[in-house]
Amino acid sequence: MTQSHPRISKAVIPAAGLGTRFLPATKATPKEMLPVVDKPAIQYVVEEAVSAGLDDILMVTGRNKRPLEDHFDRNYELESALEKKGDARRLAKVQESSDLATMHYVRQGDPRGLGHAVLCAAPHVGNEPFAVLLGDDLIDPRDPLLQRMIEVQELYGGSVVALMEVAPEQVHLYGCAAVESTGDRDVVKVSGLVEKPEPADAPSNYAIIGRYVLDPAVFEVLRETEPGRGGEIQLTDALQLLAQDEKVGGPVHGVVFKGRRYDTGDRGDYLRAIVRLACEREDLGPDFRSWLRSYVTEEM
Ligand code: UTP
Repeated sequence: MTQSHPRISKAVIPAAGLGTRFLPATKATPKEMLPVVDKPAIQYVVEEAVSAGLDDILMVTGRNKRPLEDHFDRNYELESALEKKGDARRLAKVQESSDLATMHYVRQGDPRGLGHAVLCAAPHVGNEPFAVLLGDDLIDPRDPLLQRMIEVQELYGGSVVALMEVAPEQVHLYGCAAVESTGDRDVVKVSGLVEKPEPADAPSNYAIIGRYVLDPAVFEVLRETEPGRGGEIQLTDALQLLAQDEKVGGPVHGVVFKGRRYDTGDRGDYLRAIVRLACEREDLGPDFRSWLRSYVTEEM
């Protein structure tokens, strides 16, 4: 089924959560600003959106999130200090994040859940399909996912979620999808969704990870969505309604992702992301790998 759609150009990045799993680091600093090697986690997410051709980015922020706006803005004082020193390499690093994309910001006020954060984007997005990238979910830049999700949305219409197979004992940490196969090997049709189910109630071990391409019909559904699990307005609950009734906003499909992904809001995953990405860096990798090798053999 091929349909004609406006080309997707807008990305929404919800980054208004409290980041309680990372306290006390996140008491006064947004978790999205925690460095992964030498870049804040959120910069990887914005770079991913830009690589997928989305250069209009709306970040959903809240109290304590000013550093996010500052990071993607110019810093003339720092730039002129580096210029005076003739440090062109570091100057380029400072300017890189402010030149990436057209950034917009909206404040969520009270963090009433991911669904509510997405709803805050409605006036900016209007009536066109759009992407959502969670600000604390890092997809390895070498394993492009969003590009494929946009292709799938253009092919099937409706909404597209990203799914990853997880161990049954991990299912309760995620939204979980009931799926049917399609003609495409990496695409499934989603027939139902449950937020953070107990293993016995999980319809599969396909977990939803933090990338979505959504039909704008989701806004109407979110407006009617009551707070669900944890008293929060859940995006998964709105998607469940879309999946069950295709007349509302088209079908929901899932792209099955088998690449590398890190939840930088989780301390263990955050450490794994840093070690892995540092090992693979041309500038830091060789030294760091040899230190890590001896650390593992001698100290563990
Ligand atoms: P999380 O479930 O990771 O919640 O949200 P959190 O509050 O940020 O972190 P913890 O669990 O307390 O440590 C997933 C994504 O949705 C955003 C978060 O910023 C994160 O990118 N979010 C969540 C919002 O923007 N607003 C909300 O009300 C809730």
